Amino acid sequence: MMELPPAIQEPAQALAPERVRGELELQNVTFSYQDRFGSVFHNLSLKIAVGEYVALVGASGVGKTTLGTLIPRFYDVSGGRICLDGVDIREFSLAALRRNIGTVDQDVYLFGTTVAENIRYGKPDAVAEEIISAAKKANAHEFIMALPQGYDTEIGQRGIKLSAGQRQRLSIARLFLKDPPLIILDEATSALDNESERVVQQSLERLIENRTTLVIAHRLSTIRNADRILVLTEEGICEQGTHEQLIADEGAYAGLYNLQLAR
Ligand SMILES: Nc1ncnc2c1ncn2[C@@H]1O[C@H](COP(=O)(O)OP(=O)(O)OP(=O)(O)O)[C@@H](O)[C@H]1O
Ligand SMILES: [Mg+2]
Repeated sequence: MMELPPAIQEPAQALAPERVRGELELQNVTFSYQDRFGSVFHNLSLKIAVGEYVALVGASGVGKTTLGTLIPRFYDVSGGRICLDGVDIREFSLAALRRNIGTVDQDVYLFGTTVAENIRYGKPDAVAEEIISAAKKANAHEFIMALPQGYDTEIGQRGIKLSAGQRQRLSIARLFLKDPPLIILDEATSALDNESERVVQQSLERLIENRTTLVIAHRLSTIRNADRILVLTEEGICEQGTHEQLIADEGAYAGLYNLQLAR
C-alpha cells in the first residue's frame, strides 16, 4: 500500500498562478467512481465564463456533488478534461488550484475551536479586523456578538451548537476571507426556515458578485437570478437557460419548479 502512487498527482513542473481569472470549461468529461458500476458522467461538456453565475439542478443522485468535487480535484476525471483559464487543471499544483476555488459544501464542517479560528481557516494569517469584516459581509457578526464569548466562543463537540443557517454563514465568512475567483456552492439539502434562508441568501449574493460561480441548487427559489440554469439528467445536460426561458419552455425545469411551488 505504501508504494502505491497517490491517485491525485501533480506534474513535476506544476503551474502555480496566484490568481486565475476564473473561466471554467469541462470538455467531454467522463467520470466513474472506481467502486461503482457505470459512469456518473459520459462526455459532459460545459463552459462557464469569467464572473458568470451558473446553477446546476437535477434529481438526487444524478451527480451534482460529484461534478463539484472534480473541479478542485478531489477526484480526477476518467476521460476528457477540465480547464481553468484554458489550462488543464492537472497542470496546476494542487495548492494553487485549491487556493483559487472556494467551496461551500452540503454539510458545513466546523472545527472544535473558537468562532474566530473557524473563520480564519479561510486565510490563516488574517488579523482580527479582517475576520470581523468577513463575518459582517456574511451576515454572521450579529449572531456571533450574541454568543457568550463573542468571537472567542468555542463551538463544536465541547462548545456551543450552532444552527444550520449559522454554520453556513460561518463558511461563507471563510470564503470572504479567502477571496477566490471561483466559487462552488453545494446548497444544503435540509431546508432552513424562511428568515434564516433570507439572510444566508443575501450573504451569498454578496459573495458571488464578480466571481465565477457554480451553485448546486436544491431549492429552485434561490437561483432565479442565475445567469444560466443547467438541468442535469443521467443523459447529461438536457436543458439550459435563464429561469424565465426555462419556465416558458415548459420542460423538465418548469416541471421541477412547479412541483416545488405546489409543496
Ligand atoms: N464516494 C463515492 N463512491 C462511489 N459512489 C459514489 C460516491 N459518491 C457518490 N456516489 C454515487 O454517484 C452518484 C452521484 O452522486 P452525487 O452525490 O454526485 O449526487 P447528487 O446529484 O449530488 O445528489 P443529491 O441531490 O442527493 O445531493 C450516486 O449514484 C451516488 O450513489
Ligand atoms: Mg449532492
